[in-house]
Amino acid sequence: MFLFQIDDELALKHLELHDANRLFQLTDQSRHHLRQWLPWVDGTNSTADSKAFIQSSLKAFSNRRALTTGILYKSELAGVVAFNHLDWANNAGQIGYWLGTPYQGNGIMIRAVSGLIDYGVYSLALNRIEIRAAVANTKSRAIPERLRFVQEGQLRQAEQLHASYTDHALYGMLASEWKQLRPNHASNYHPAFHKT
Ligand SMILES: CC(C)(COP(=O)(O)OP(=O)(O)OC[C@H]1O[C@@H](n2cnc3c(N)ncnc32)[C@H](O)[C@@H]1OP(=O)(O)O)[C@@H](O)C(=O)NCCC(=O)NCCS
Repeated sequence: MFLFQIDDELALKHLELHDANRLFQLTDQSRHHLRQWLPWVDGTNSTADSKAFIQSSLKAFSNRRALTTGILYKSELAGVVAFNHLDWANNAGQIGYWLGTPYQGNGIMIRAVSGLIDYGVYSLALNRIEIRAAVANTKSRAIPERLRFVQEGQLRQAEQLHASYTDHALYGMLASEWKQLRPNHASNYHPAFHKT
């Protein structure tokens, strides 16, 4: 099972079926701010929906197509950060994330995304990490911008959000760039999820 300690108060762990209730509570109490940017929120109405999400995440992990982790902040589930898509032909990963409302504004996500990139670059040997965010989603765009991703372009009408199409800002980080920015953050090799 995946557990990656980032610092004294923050860790990433695999979401497991017994996390479904807490994950649903966090989603439910945060739905007002989440639904603006995350289309799946309106379809998440019970613990069973969160459980189905965790089940499909675990299946994608076992097929090495994705890695979805819960963010533990002071041992509480605070949000989710994931490689939503892993492309092994090109050693590339695409990151997505959200935080529960009470946990925003503490620098949790910037550290969680940094930790996941450390893991992706140093343990999975990914060469390219991508983050996409709706152009108007300034809080989300602040994450790759603070981490010094390169904005590589804008994808027109990339996502349907509440019946209208939204443009995405596309950000990329190469392993060579990340290693220069954070040379001393090699994480421990994790044999359960290595590239074959
Ligand atoms: C995107 C999202 C995760 C960003 O959350 P966040 O709390 O702003 O991000 P961080 O955890 O990195 O915290 C950064 C904020 O904490 C502040 N902060 C406080 N202490 C800090 C510290 N020690 N280190 C860094 N930042 C700190 C920063 O100043 C910043 O606040 P500001 O934006 O008002 O300047 C959140 O808004 C969210 O879940 N949005 C809805 C879902 C979503 O849009 N997902 C992305 C889809 S692409």
